[in-house]
Amino acid sequence: RRLLGTVGAAGATGLVLGAAGGAAAYAAAGETPAELTTVGSTGVPFYGEHQAGITTPLQARGHLIAFDLAPGAGRKEAAALMRRWSALAGELMAGEVPGGGDDTGVALDAGPSSLTVTFGFGRTFFDRTALVAQRPPELDPLPAFSSDQLDAGRSNGDLWVQIGADDALVAFHALRAIQKAAGDAARVRWQMNGFNRSPGATGKPMTARNLMGQIDGTRNPKPSEADFDQRIFVPSRPSGTAYDWLAGGSYAVVRRIRMLLDDWERLPQKKQERVIGRRKSDGAPLTGGSETTELALDRAGPDGKLVIPGNAHARISAPEQNGGAAMLRRPFSFHDGIAPDGTPDAGLLFVCWQADPLRGFVPVQRKLDRGDALSAFIRHEASGLFAVPGGARKGEYVGQRLLE
Ligand code: HEM
Repeated sequence: RRLLGTVGAAGATGLVLGAAGGAAAYAAAGETPAELTTVGSTGVPFYGEHQAGITTPLQARGHLIAFDLAPGAGRKEAAALMRRWSALAGELMAGEVPGGGDDTGVALDAGPSSLTVTFGFGRTFFDRTALVAQRPPELDPLPAFSSDQLDAGRSNGDLWVQIGADDALVAFHALRAIQKAAGDAARVRWQMNGFNRSPGATGKPMTARNLMGQIDGTRNPKPSEADFDQRIFVPSRPSGTAYDWLAGGSYAVVRRIRMLLDDWERLPQKKQERVIGRRKSDGAPLTGGSETTELALDRAGPDGKLVIPGNAHARISAPEQNGGAAMLRRPFSFHDGIAPDGTPDAGLLFVCWQADPLRGFVPVQRKLDRGDALSAFIRHEASGLFAVPGGARKGEYVGQRLLE
């Protein structure tokens, strides 16, 4: 067995501040910079109050994969699968060669590389396992939005796994291992591959950029904020209530959002900036200052018009405009080649985390759907909603409190 690096050296409770991650992210947050480590030796603990991959800094590589339980598989098979997957994820995240003797060797010689493996349950999981009484109402299907062009085959699923790592081989290795460990219990429903900037690619402690070139993630809730846990994680309920198994968990909304990049890139930069309400160069609001300056939403220019337009994405999505609705956006970019019409099949694997989707994603998307300037340049193509249980304690598996 091989164990490289020091798990927990950095990143375990790190902030989602951008692809630079590590020391830069900590420095930006005013915390003590983490000790310098190599990309490979940085590990994230598997066991803990919350699953990893929620507040972990964005990783350079990501795979999202949904499974359906196989015909005939029910609660017993699901429990055995979650036990297998949890043990495997613990080994992989520690940089160990998984036991069982059938390792592919793809990640040999690599450290954990900030690998995280996160598990979630979709609405249909509870039908398949005859646990409908334990299904929280928050898992009710998301409402249909007028601009949706969703592909059902690439949406939802009984089980969801998010894999992130700062090395593409480490991420692929984990993906294959997870898929093989599903055995006869579950079958892949859909899979998506994404990426972010590699650690070390920029010396600036800057928030990540997306494929439209914008700084994206500035106004995310920060773990250092007093109401962070309340907004992102499901609270404990009195023991014995139907949904207590989800305490410390969260809800993930996943959307494959295609960017219409040919149209976007034809738009002059000044107009691009008015679509968001922020400058492209440094992410500062059009009303001035730096990336972290508050948006002056009421300020008018010499022409009497609002400087940040009424339909600017950053205005419409701001919590102040949505009764405080907040979510932690933690996306990966994707590029799946060129579509038959010659346009890039590229965009954002939008993943957002919240304690309640009806107080996070849903009200914000409802508003964006009605009048976001960005809508003309994007298309929602797939959708998923998953209940993500709290983290496992040593000796426990993810979801045990539901399935045992
Ligand atoms: C803010 C881009 C989709 C919710 C932003 C910002 C950018 C951006 C550049 C400003 C910087 C920041 O605060 O992060 C995009 C792109 C999208 C997309 C390119 C699609 C491809 C969505 C969706 C939602 C959403 C689907 C939720 C339904 C938010 C929120 C903020 C934000 C909540 C922060 C607003 C604030 O607190 O002031 N987005 N976004 N975005 N976006 Fe999006």
